[in-house]
Amino acid sequence: MPILPITVYGDSILRKKVAPITQIDDNLISTIRDMFNTMRNAYGIGLAANQVNLNKQIFVIDISEIESYSHIKPVVMINPKILLYSDERVVMNEGCLSLPNLRADVERSKMIKVQYLDADENIQEIEADGLFARVILHEYDHLIGKMIPDRVCKPVRDKLKKELLLIKNREVDVDYPITEKKI
Ligand code: NI
Repeated sequence: MPILPITVYGDSILRKKVAPITQIDDNLISTIRDMFNTMRNAYGIGLAANQVNLNKQIFVIDISEIESYSHIKPVVMINPKILLYSDERVVMNEGCLSLPNLRADVERSKMIKVQYLDADENIQEIEADGLFARVILHEYDHLIGKMIPDRVCKPVRDKLKKELLLIKNREVDVDYPITEKKI
């Protein structure tokens, strides 16, 4: 099963609002499988389609290995919409497979309600809290072309600049396949 190269900061598709899915067919199911494999190969807990250079509103999440989240099954969300954001916001330290070696504290809503299509074309609506909400919001951000640096204040963003440049130039050690040059 193929492991896809992951796009990194600087790749244009990460800045794109990706397109909704209109048809869930065998091709798409196999794409979703590749996304799960690619995410797990990189020890990630979430992966959005534009992180594997696909212009599609899909992301996959698996936090079942994380302590106290083993009850959350691996999930694919197609055409997700955030219906509700809690006023209560929390800060968590985040990383991203498209920003290798970079970490930053990001403030986001603690709880959300999200609607999405599952792989069987059923509309699902769920509430998510804690790390689950966090990962959904992070992946949803990818689908609208946003990344961690867009969610921190300017002084923090300025501090990240050097690291971002290194990532863009692929001058970072990464132990999973990334796109070879800027796409
Ligand atoms: Ni990410």
